[in-house]
Amino acid sequence: MNIKPIKPLIDSYGRRIRKLRVSLLDACNFRCVYCMPLDPVFMDSSRWLRPQEIERVCSALVDFGLEQIRLTGGEPTLRDDFRDIVLRLSSLPLDKLGLTTNGWNLTKELDFLSDTNCRHINISLDSLTKEIFTRITRRDYFDKVLDSILSAKRLGFHVKINTVLMKGINDHEIFDFIRFSAEHEVEIRFLELMSIGQANGYKDKLFVPASDIIQMISTREELTGEESECDSTSFNFKTSSGASIGFIASETLPFCGNCSRWRLSADGFLRACLMSENGIYIRDVEPEDYKAKLNELLMMKPYRKIERIEQDMYKIGG
Ligand code: 5AD
Ligand code: SF4
Repeated sequence: MNIKPIKPLIDSYGRRIRKLRVSLLDACNFRCVYCMPLDPVFMDSSRWLRPQEIERVCSALVDFGLEQIRLTGGEPTLRDDFRDIVLRLSSLPLDKLGLTTNGWNLTKELDFLSDTNCRHINISLDSLTKEIFTRITRRDYFDKVLDSILSAKRLGFHVKINTVLMKGINDHEIFDFIRFSAEHEVEIRFLELMSIGQANGYKDKLFVPASDIIQMISTREELTGEESECDSTSFNFKTSSGASIGFIASETLPFCGNCSRWRLSADGFLRACLMSENGIYIRDVEPEDYKAKLNELLMMKPYRKIERIEQDMYKIGG
């Protein structure tokens, strides 16, 4: 259980910040078409926050009521000091420490992660066929990712699969994903393609609203709604065939009014919203100035959904 916040971060709309996404680096060894170009320019590693700095910022935010941290990227496991960072964050009094990964490097981190508090792993998997997976990620790593998912599940991690659905590319696989979920007892979350960076160029052609998917699934399966926290990004169902599925309908049903999340970039820029480049550099803020700085950031969080952003997802942190 978390300690009581000393000075909780609550904005004028009553939203309390309690979750943080920490991007460890912007680089990734995949090239998902909606996330980055084929030849991205990554930030120089000398700019990355060092493990002690990440720990310092996160620990200070815990004092302001932060309860959950999720590590993300780019691909977080690509950092040489990934384990050092996880160990440091693992010692903070958090309710939840999680990891979002492409799964490429995960199998060999699982034994290490088993001994930490990082027990919640989200893995991206946009197709259950090698060919389509390769077309979307532009990498031939399907088998490695599948192995990661099944190994993590076998070792008792809380595993969720993130699947971005795209019309004519992978939306015919919905029932395969449902079967996969029931068979392997792993939750699948279908994401709407968001108007971010590269994806803006594909959105008109590829966008599938969550309501269409739900309607399609309802023709074959009975859906029973599951309870979720009010700041949850997804709404979730059990299907009659035993699958656990969720929907992140960021475009058609935005959850900004309940959002409890901030994001920290690899070089220490703390921002209030995925869709807005506003934020503050937190890296060199002195402890006595934290309160004022964080209050500034609280006021930067938009209440209504910002429609699109040109910055690519890998730069923001997924
Ligand atoms: N729309 C929806 N999801 C996206 N992701 C990356 N870019 C987009 C986008 N434009 C997903 C990745 C990963 C998660 C962190 O975000 O597939 O699963
Ligand atoms: Fe890498 Fe994730 Fe972007 Fe794909 S979506 S290129 S796995 S950061």
